[in-house]
Amino acid sequence: MTAPTPQPAAGRPAALELDDVEVAVPDGDGTRTILAGVALEVRRGELVTIAGRSGAGKSTLLAVAGLLRRPDRGEVTIAGRPTSGLSGRERTVVRRDHVAVVHQSAQLFPSLTAVEQLELVAHIRGRLDRAARERARALLAEVGLAHRMDALPAHLSGGERQRVAVARALMAEPSVLLADEPTAALDPERGQEILDLLAVETRERDLATVVVTHDPVTRSWPDRRLELRGGRLHEAGGPGDDGALT
Ligand SMILES: Nc1ncnc2c1ncn2[C@@H]1O[C@H](COP(=O)(O)OP(=O)(O)OP(=O)(O)O)[C@@H](O)[C@H]1O
Ligand SMILES: [Mg+2]
Repeated sequence: MTAPTPQPAAGRPAALELDDVEVAVPDGDGTRTILAGVALEVRRGELVTIAGRSGAGKSTLLAVAGLLRRPDRGEVTIAGRPTSGLSGRERTVVRRDHVAVVHQSAQLFPSLTAVEQLELVAHIRGRLDRAARERARALLAEVGLAHRMDALPAHLSGGERQRVAVARALMAEPSVLLADEPTAALDPERGQEILDLLAVETRERDLATVVVTHDPVTRSWPDRRLELRGGRLHEAGGPGDDGALT
């Protein structure tokens, strides 16, 4: 696969907005602030990477962005809808309709074939009809797995499993795609392929994508690179940054 061509996301509507997000966690007798006023806006068609040392709060940030965790303060707006005032049930609906997540490990069901992993997404929504089955096959073909549709996870390579996970995420037709170190378990070449795939899908499907990665290969990408440090997001790759992300 060739590297994606950059297309300006400027002017596109934001699908994900974090405003002044604060998260503190219990620490001994007190609390420790993990996110201290995080602001982030990701437009449709835009891919943003976030780096930062272990424990910096990257996974916490994605959990907040994906409505899996309520921040202690601040607002998360998904597809134009502020979520802080929503009930747990309403948040679940927004998450289901708009957010997809890719993890470090593919987290596939061992007993389901590749195509069944995707069909399950439609089944859970009560919409496993013929069109959904066709879409599942088309998505797997799109991520380069046309020949592996009926394979079980145990018979797929790590890179192939991660491709299934990406296709499964797309099956839900999200507007926001969140990936937490999706390349960490892969060799550099397979990792680059997954990152390229995420970038291509971001553009083709007009997704607002956030990828947490330590991977220096992201330097080849044209999109915004951020670093989470001291509970806040900073631009990475500016003057004085040699690209050696910690
Ligand atoms: N519910 C919780 N209770 C206590 N501490 C927590 C909780 N959730 C997260 N933390 C702490 O918050 C900090 C940030 O964790 P987080 O998983 O977001 O970091 P990370 O940047 O993703 O790290 P890594 O690169 O290792 O994945 C860590 O010190 C973690 O132990
Ligand atoms: Mg993490």
